[in-house]
Amino acid sequence: MKKLFALFLSLIMVLSLAACGSTPTQSAAPSTAPSAAPSAAQKLIKVGVAQVGHESDWRTASTKSIQTNLSKENGFDLQFVDCDNKPDKQLEAVRNFIQQQVDYIVIDPIVSTGWDTVLTEAQNAKIPVIVLDRTIDDSNKYVTWIGSEFTNEGLAAGAWLKDYAKAKNIDKLNILVIKGTTGSSAEIGRTKGFEKIAKENGWTILDQQDGQFTQEGGAKVMESYCKSYAGKFNVVVCQNDNEAFGAQDAMKAAGVTYGVNGKVILISFDACKAALKQVLEGKINADFQCNPLQGKVLADTIKKLKAGEKVPEKTYMPEPWYVSENILKSITYTNNAGKTVTEDLIQVTQAIADASY
Ligand code: AHR
Repeated sequence: MKKLFALFLSLIMVLSLAACGSTPTQSAAPSTAPSAAPSAAQKLIKVGVAQVGHESDWRTASTKSIQTNLSKENGFDLQFVDCDNKPDKQLEAVRNFIQQQVDYIVIDPIVSTGWDTVLTEAQNAKIPVIVLDRTIDDSNKYVTWIGSEFTNEGLAAGAWLKDYAKAKNIDKLNILVIKGTTGSSAEIGRTKGFEKIAKENGWTILDQQDGQFTQEGGAKVMESYCKSYAGKFNVVVCQNDNEAFGAQDAMKAAGVTYGVNGKVILISFDACKAALKQVLEGKINADFQCNPLQGKVLADTIKKLKAGEKVPEKTYMPEPWYVSENILKSITYTNNAGKTVTEDLIQVTQAIADASY
């Protein structure tokens, strides 16, 4: 009887061990494992981003914002290309994304024209395109745009200069402009806005040359301005902070003083951390922010599109205006939409500079 009971027990153990082993073996079986891995990968949204380049502090912050928000943990498979400010390279990057059949293409267009053919190709491949930061002006074959109102930045800079000159009793303004990359919408908008106010007020714009949005470019243009216009200018407008840093180097070398205690009023755009520190120190008089932290809005927009939700045609980033002195509290001007607006001027503090990008 005992023998029979022992035999019965061993039989039960063998059967239960076999049953226990069946579960992990099945889930780890080659038939299920490979299909589990791709399905997890398939959940990631494949996005190709054709970034302008790496010319400025602004651009570094923009790239970081895109890469942080379009991360794997956030559900994205990001294909990122730095196009090194070469329009041909950017078109090639977009065509590669089409070939790879990514789910979405994001373009920060180096220049605003020359886009319709490649956007038609993306449309034919049924890949939605999102335009980031700068605008595309010769095609509407994209779903949405997220970026800055560059013309308003130029208008605001002009409106500030008008009130500042009045407050300081400066009646003659002779201006030198260091422009950004020719043909980029950032350059086109800032130039258009500032020129409008200059014209309305009879200011003299002595010269406007391309500094490529780089410190090196700004220094080169300013070096030649200091020779050609020695003693003839009292305002320098740089279309981004890195150009302003270069212009400062060239003015220092030529013995030209600038900023709050200098002979030349220095205006800049972007308001990156290093520039706001200079506004705080009075080395840049005013800085009109262009906001590069667009990654979160971009990620949310793609997720909405993926879910079949509607997204706005255009999304403008909020952009404050920063000044060095506590003379003016606000500016009033007619913006690019034809609306008269009054906007605050923010006097930079250490905390504000530290909190910037
Ligand atoms: O398109 C935005 C502009 O491009 C920024 O003002 C400049 O710094 C950048 O290179």
